[in-house]
Amino acid sequence: MTNFSKIIATGSYLPEKILSNQDLEKLVDTSDEWIISRSGIKQRHIIGENESPSDMAYNAAIDAITSNNIDKSSIDMIIVATFTSDAVFPSNACLLQQRLGIGSIPAFDLNAVCSGFLYAIATADAYIKTNMAKTILIVGADAVSHYIDYTDRNTCVLFGDGAGAVILQHSNEPGIYGSELHADGNGEEALHVKGQLKQGKIVGHPFVYMDGKPVFKAAVKSLSHIATSILKKTNHTKEQIDWLIPHQANIRIIEATANHLSLPMDKVIVTVDKHGNTAAASVPLALDTAIKSGKIKRGDLLLLEGFGAGFTWGASLIRY
Ligand code: COA
Repeated sequence: MTNFSKIIATGSYLPEKILSNQDLEKLVDTSDEWIISRSGIKQRHIIGENESPSDMAYNAAIDAITSNNIDKSSIDMIIVATFTSDAVFPSNACLLQQRLGIGSIPAFDLNAVCSGFLYAIATADAYIKTNMAKTILIVGADAVSHYIDYTDRNTCVLFGDGAGAVILQHSNEPGIYGSELHADGNGEEALHVKGQLKQGKIVGHPFVYMDGKPVFKAAVKSLSHIATSILKKTNHTKEQIDWLIPHQANIRIIEATANHLSLPMDKVIVTVDKHGNTAAASVPLALDTAIKSGKIKRGDLLLLEGFGAGFTWGASLIRY
């Protein structure tokens, strides 16, 4: 076994502005107590007026590059997982490539909403294993707040903005043992933003719509199933997992997934209380936060999981 991709760097970025539960109490009929008990969220970061999603992606990428002494000219592909690009086109990956000033390397956006980072990890790993790239910058960056109606209490309490970055490089040692991806387009009605630009006009509702209960049930079922499946596929056991890094949407979904794996919560990375659900940024933000705090150490076995609109879901088992 000599053909792996390994995480050589991580980085992250959170916008300065914090929206607390108390702030939301002034906007909609909700309470700090309801939000914490139903979701575990205490606060979320909100992108600045003069800031763009690609700015957040750039800041996370620069953090990964500089805090890990990466030679940026070694990066030979960029994938940005996002559903909130600055523009209809070009992609945020192209904007990022231009700002980083790294040549004519391929760069593209990938949209699997909240599972986008897991889709990007699996995609990058496949490019590396087939020798089409050696060092790939992956950024999950979303300004979910751009699509939130702050009069809708069903959604406005749950989401936040941010960006997380990972650099994957070819390695003779593990690395990514394997990834698994799924989608079920039947989830469309429960979770969507249907608004779009047509002939210069917004057509359809341009805000996040969510029917929470079916999304909650689908998330718990899919994430529990995929965790067992990826362990089996890569010949690992749940006892070997050092850290579960799940999508940060709701503490109750996270606890149910951990419970299914019989993992104590002290082996689970939780940032949902401080970040809310940051869509494609959620898993890389949690990963980088746990690495920077010293929780995750080199050699640890990590199970990363994502679930999002589509529905889409994915997992990766990684030796850090
Ligand atoms: N404050 C107070 N009350 C609220 C509220 C809020 N912010 N949002 C909804 N409610 C109300 C509803 O109107 C509903 O009232 P009703 O019973 O009078 O109709 C009630 O709370 C629903 O409460 P409950 O049944 O306890 O909600 P829940 O356990 O389903 O939790 C969610 C709601 C949204 C937190 C939960 O369903 C969830 O997390 N879903 C998945 C979210 C997710 O992961 N989305 C992203 C996937 S990427």
